[in-house]
Amino acid sequence: MSDKTYAPSDDFVKNANVDAAKYDEMYAASVNDPDAFWGEHMKRLDWIKTPTKIKNTSFDYHNVSIKWFEDGEINVAANCVDRHLATRGDQTAIIWESDDPNVDKHITYNELSEQVNKLANVYKSLGVGKGDRVVLYMPMIPEAAYAMLACARIGAIHSIVFAGFSPEALAARVSGCDAKLIVTADQAPRGGRATPLKANVDKAREHCGEVQTLVVERTGADVGLKDGLDHSYNALMANASADCPPEPMNAEDPLFILYTSGSTGAPKGVVHTTGGYLLYAALTHEVTFDYHDGDIYWCTADVGWVTGHSYIVYGPLANGATTLMFEGVPTYPDAGRFWAVCEKHKVNQFYTAPTAIRALMGQGTEWVTKYDLSDLKVLGTVGEPINPEAWNWYNDVVGKGNCPIVDTWWQTETGGHMMTPLPGAHATKPGAAMKPFFGVQPVVLDPQAGTEIAESPCEGVLCIADSWPGQMRTVYGDHERFVKTYFSDYKGYYFAGDGCRRDADGDYWITGRVDDVINVSGHRMGTAEVESALVAHAKVAEAAVVGFPHEIKGQGIYCYVTLMEGEEYTDDLKTELRNWVRTEIGPIASPDYIQWAPGLPKTRSGKIMRRILRKIAENDYGALGDTSTLADPSVVDELIANRKPD
Ligand code: WT7
Repeated sequence: MSDKTYAPSDDFVKNANVDAAKYDEMYAASVNDPDAFWGEHMKRLDWIKTPTKIKNTSFDYHNVSIKWFEDGEINVAANCVDRHLATRGDQTAIIWESDDPNVDKHITYNELSEQVNKLANVYKSLGVGKGDRVVLYMPMIPEAAYAMLACARIGAIHSIVFAGFSPEALAARVSGCDAKLIVTADQAPRGGRATPLKANVDKAREHCGEVQTLVVERTGADVGLKDGLDHSYNALMANASADCPPEPMNAEDPLFILYTSGSTGAPKGVVHTTGGYLLYAALTHEVTFDYHDGDIYWCTADVGWVTGHSYIVYGPLANGATTLMFEGVPTYPDAGRFWAVCEKHKVNQFYTAPTAIRALMGQGTEWVTKYDLSDLKVLGTVGEPINPEAWNWYNDVVGKGNCPIVDTWWQTETGGHMMTPLPGAHATKPGAAMKPFFGVQPVVLDPQAGTEIAESPCEGVLCIADSWPGQMRTVYGDHERFVKTYFSDYKGYYFAGDGCRRDADGDYWITGRVDDVINVSGHRMGTAEVESALVAHAKVAEAAVVGFPHEIKGQGIYCYVTLMEGEEYTDDLKTELRNWVRTEIGPIASPDYIQWAPGLPKTRSGKIMRRILRKIAENDYGALGDTSTLADPSVVDELIANRKPD
């Protein structure tokens, strides 16, 4: 890793919201007196009742409790919509770029207000009220943002399920939060093909029961609405009133649930609440991207992930920004699509994932250089560590050496950016997340001893020493799991699950997950989830899943599979298993490689030694470590002999 630094230009620094001196001053203030700092910054939001209590948090293992602004009252939709109407009602709130490059739409704040109010009334007419859960299973269309904000308006809690998840995965999430309503669309066009969302909901309901469903007419395909169970979006919106007063919410009322993968068990419902989350999303959006009034901002994520929640919808709209929402994929109709969209809409801030950068990098620079990208000011990346080659390509070819790159490290759990360079404050280093955001206190711990390492350079596990307003509050319905997952390995700290190093300058570099979570194209997956999908197949006796380095995806999914006694190990069965996993979880969990493993390396007590399997998948046999404790050490040689060809 190179430690060459890239400083912002003098012009950039002059116009920046936060320069180096201001960062130092604000960061110090944020950690020295959080009550004063956040008590001041909360004023960027409109409160119904101004909080008098700011921070009330404990990371003590016996009593983990996180409350911010606990006596304040606020409504998120009123902050993202209503309060902008007087000053920017005719300004574009959302630019929608459809999958079809010839179709786009500009939605003003006035129009956004009308749609959100109407939809909120539609929800009410369907019996949805404060505290009820609504599952959204949506394409990337403006209605997805309306659906989120309409929930917030009436105090319903949304849980978005990525439209790439299978009916089975959808059903589990609908049941998991006992949803009163599903909002979906007939179909989701992407890359020229259409995902049958409504048909998937029909299949899901065979597992989760007859949950009523509101169906947005995206393509107009005939998807068969069942009387009394399915409702046409167009029909109900046509008769809805555009006046729905925002529900006053306590700052600590839940805003949304979002399921994410962990190292063990089924995905957990991450709960984010109202006041602290919105404040943190809004402030990070403005500061990290150096957003200025009038800028056009584009985050390429999907609303099914937290990035879409915080940095397509809530952060930008709370700031009165113009946010671009893209329905398609980077390579449709061709590999120039991202840059065509940047040119067409004069995008100023562009935020994407390393996996997309790596994929486009392989297509050649002419796809980029044929477009006018002179409006770009800041480039962002998120989701996984970015390799220096991809960083340099992003910097040179896309940014023309003129746009600071913000490499933002954060998680579904953190609500917003935790570490990132600020574009006008820090000289960036390719691959470094650099500095903590205001209020964030990262520490590097010795993985075994659990003690803080004070000196730099150093390497260890990354923990956070104190709470920040955007932090998740609990696991839905299972506070014990919340405590166990994040606060029990290293007592007194929030344990992120990532490793990191701090260089001699005190800058942070994320080195990747230290648990059994893998990161495939920026999508987070528990190896245990893929394993349990595999063993659910009648012919599979046992499965062990690990990640392996993948040129484009970052990590690929490597599965070792043992079949039931008497079953035949065939290529056809490999294909069948691959399809099986896609149906159980979704295409994003599709195994990249399946290796037949008549035997797996186990300890004498029967525990699978995943460390060894990881090394074999990485083609790194020199470092297998001690195999003498295995019940049958010979299985290792056999696995090596039959590993994936390079
Ligand atoms: C995990 C969280 C939060 C946005 C999308 C992913 C990895 C995220 C970076 C980065 C290195 C990163 C971490 C983290 N990650 N951003 N800039 N550099 N790694 O959210 O699905 O909750 O995944 O993504 O491993 O723990 P998520």
